[in-house]
Amino acid sequence: MMFNKSNNPIKIKKVNKKENREQLAKRLFETADAGFKNGSPWEDKHFYHTLEAVNSIIFTASIDEDEDEKIVGLLIASIAMIEVDIYMIVVDEAYKQKRIAYQLFEHLIAECRKREVERIFLEVRVSNRPAIGLYERLGFDKVGTRKAYYSSPIEDAIVMQLEL
Ligand SMILES: CC(C)(COP(=O)(O)OP(=O)(O)OC[C@H]1O[C@@H](n2cnc3c(N)ncnc32)[C@H](O)[C@@H]1OP(=O)(O)O)[C@@H](O)C(=O)NCCC(=O)NCCS
Repeated sequence: MMFNKSNNPIKIKKVNKKENREQLAKRLFETADAGFKNGSPWEDKHFYHTLEAVNSIIFTASIDEDEDEKIVGLLIASIAMIEVDIYMIVVDEAYKQKRIAYQLFEHLIAECRKREVERIFLEVRVSNRPAIGLYERLGFDKVGTRKAYYSSPIEDAIVMQLEL
């Protein structure tokens, strides 16, 4: 069991995409904004579209805080038959290195096995050591690179794959 700073357990949940979309999109944005060094790469509306998309799967990690539930991590993926693509994994700066991203992935992988998914793909900036460390820890292999895949700043992507 994972605990936060006040010793409350961290809960991992699969998001019900039909409930409170607007409010949830805003909360997901806030979590991403608190986790990426330069703020969220997506606006509220992008999270909203992901909640609407039939193929998306979203997991959140949350803690109870002052009678509210604070989302401290999120994982967004898209499923197409036997393949899953990771769109975003992020953990609030204040909650990093507590195994939250790892647990979010464990839940996604369990869901993938249930749905008979065969592999999970993702792209990552070549300079993103924490994320690459996480993916390697989970058993992802490097399967390619994409030149200048990212902008602001321009950077190559490493393509990684996990065979299930
Ligand atoms: C990448 C990220 C999601 C990891 O989240 P996290 O909850 O801190 O990671 P975890 O605590 O679950 O770590 C699991 C494993 O990842 C690796 N890892 C995590 N942080 C790391 C770091 N700073 N440096 C190197 N490896 C790291 C380790 O192998 C770790 O295993 P260990 O606990 O046995 O050491 C987090 O750093 C983040 O939100 N980064 C900004 C957003 C981002 O870049 N996302 C990826 C692109 S979408």
